Amino acid sequence: MSGLRLLLSRGLASGYAKALWFLVSLLPFCWLLYAAMADRLGANPAEALIRSSGDWTLRALCLVLAITPLRNASGLHVLARFRRMSGLFVYFYAMLHLLAYSWLDMGLDLGDIAKDIGKRPFILVGFAAWLSLSLLALTSFDRAIRWVGAARWKRLHRLVYGIALLAVVHFFWMRAGKHNFAEVALYAAILGSLLLWRLVWWLRKRPAAGALLGQLRACWALPRQYLRRPDAER
Ligand code: HEM
Repeated sequence: MSGLRLLLSRGLASGYAKALWFLVSLLPFCWLLYAAMADRLGANPAEALIRSSGDWTLRALCLVLAITPLRNASGLHVLARFRRMSGLFVYFYAMLHLLAYSWLDMGLDLGDIAKDIGKRPFILVGFAAWLSLSLLALTSFDRAIRWVGAARWKRLHRLVYGIALLAVVHFFWMRAGKHNFAEVALYAAILGSLLLWRLVWWLRKRPAAGALLGQLRACWALPRQYLRRPDAER
C-alpha cells in the first residue's frame, strides 16, 4: 500500500472521520435552518425550501452511489464505513423535502396530499422514490440485515438504482413545464456514469462478459496504437 493511501486509510478508519462526516452531512440542513430563521430564502421561502431539500436529496444520492466506485478505484476499502451513514442522510434530506412539501405546500392535509400525489405525475414519481428509500432505510440496521438475510438484503438494496432513475424522472418532469433541463442533464449524466461504472464492474466479474469487455477494449485501443506509430504520420 502506498504511503498516501495508508495515511488516508488510517485517517478514515478513525472515529473522528465518521464524526466529521456526520457534521459535514448536516451542514446543508444547518444552512437551510439558518436561512429560514434569518429570512434569507428569497421572495418565496416555501418554494426555496422544497426545492433546496429536493436538490440536497439528489446530491446525497449521487454521493452515496459514488462511494463504491471510489472505494474500488482507490483501493480505500475503509470508505465502506461511510456508506450506511451517507445512505441515511439521503433519507434524512428526502424526509425534509417531503415534510417541506406536506407542510408548506399542502398545510399537512393528508387528504389534499393524497389527491395531489394522484393528480400530478411528477409528485407520484417522487413519492415512489421516497417509498423505496423508506424500505432501504428501514432495513439498513444490523438487526434488519440479520432478519432479512444477507443475500436477500443485497438484492433489496439494488433498489437504489431504481431510486436514482425515479429521482431523475421526477426532476425532469418537474422542469419539463419550464423547459429548463441543464441541471437535470447534469444529474442524469452523473448518476448514469455511476450506474454504468457499476455495470462494467459487475460484468468484469463474470468470465464470459469479462472476455467480451477485454475484446472491446482491445478494439478501442487498436486505432490509437496505429495513430501513435511514427509511420502512421503522413
Ligand atoms: C428520493 C426522493 C426525491 C428526490 C431525489 C427529489 C428531488 C427533487 C428535486 C431535485 C427537485 C427540484 C429542485 C429544483 O428545482 O432545484 C424536486 C422538486 C419537488 N419535489 Fe421532489 N424529490 C423526491 C421526492 C419527492 C416527494 C416524496 C415529493 C412529494 C410527495 C416531492 C415533491 C416535490 C415538489 C412539490 C417539488 C417542487 C416543485 C415546484 O417547485 O414546482 N418530491 N424534488
